[in-house]
Amino acid sequence: MGTEGMRKICVVGASGKLGQYMVRQCLERGYEVVGVCREQSVPKLAAFEGRMTVVPGPTNDPDVIRRAVDGCDGVLTVLVPWGVRQYASGTAQAVLDHARPGARLVFSCGWHITRDGKDRYSRLFILGVRIAAVLGRLVRAVQIDDQVEACRRVFDSDTRWTVVRGSTLKEGESEGLPVWSRHVGDPVLASDRTRRVDFALFMVAALTDDELVQEAPAIVGCRTPSALAHARGPASGG
Ligand SMILES: NC(=O)c1ccc[n+]([C@@H]2O[C@H](COP(=O)([O-])OP(=O)(O)OC[C@H]3O[C@@H](n4cnc5c(N)ncnc54)[C@H](OP(=O)(O)O)[C@@H]3O)[C@@H](O)[C@H]2O)c1
Repeated sequence: MGTEGMRKICVVGASGKLGQYMVRQCLERGYEVVGVCREQSVPKLAAFEGRMTVVPGPTNDPDVIRRAVDGCDGVLTVLVPWGVRQYASGTAQAVLDHARPGARLVFSCGWHITRDGKDRYSRLFILGVRIAAVLGRLVRAVQIDDQVEACRRVFDSDTRWTVVRGSTLKEGESEGLPVWSRHVGDPVLASDRTRRVDFALFMVAALTDDELVQEAPAIVGCRTPSALAHARGPASGG
């Protein structure tokens, strides 16, 4: 653990399910919180009124992001492949361009993102991603390739980034900090389940974990069978 002096945090995509968990956890840690979300989603943050600053606007608008990340020690970004206008890559680029030098930048995505091509996916997983990509493109609602491009830009940057790759997500009470490994396909990850609240926990914990700088951890719930089975043996990551 490390990164002293974490004080002010920006949550980009604050109104979504993952974003709201992260806002709550940041407030519980005593951080000052700035959230960015689309104008129409501001009411979703009503529960936090008076306890955070909201900057309304598209998260891929560089001007919105520049104002939101001003003075922030860390930025937690929910990368989503929605729309057909490079929403994910535009969001990532705006954060990379405008966060202060040295800030901790933590991005969320799924297991389908690979950093070094050494992840091993099941046929079912690959098929699912392909179907989602094709259907998403057909209805002009999802652009998975653009989330891939967003992460490529993050991986290529010399900032203090972490890309957290979530397994299939479930709602429910927290089970604790997820465990992680560098590659999908590693046995510890086999259960492919994480509580969404714990995905948020991992993102927020990454802000102060220097071991995760320039890592792309794939995570799984710490109480899942595969995590428990490997609890006494070393995973290749955390
Ligand atoms: N869902 C899964 O099973 C799963 C699995 C692995 C990884 N992940 C990762 O987890 C993260 C959170 O995903 P989630 O599924 O749990 O969703 P989520 O937390 O509910 O977040 C969805 C986000 O997408 C925004 N959004 C929705 N429609 C949009 C549109 N048309 N244009 C622009 N933004 C739009 C939402 O903003 P508004 O509040 O403004 O609507 C919100 O910020 C993502 O990085 C995802 O890749 C998810």
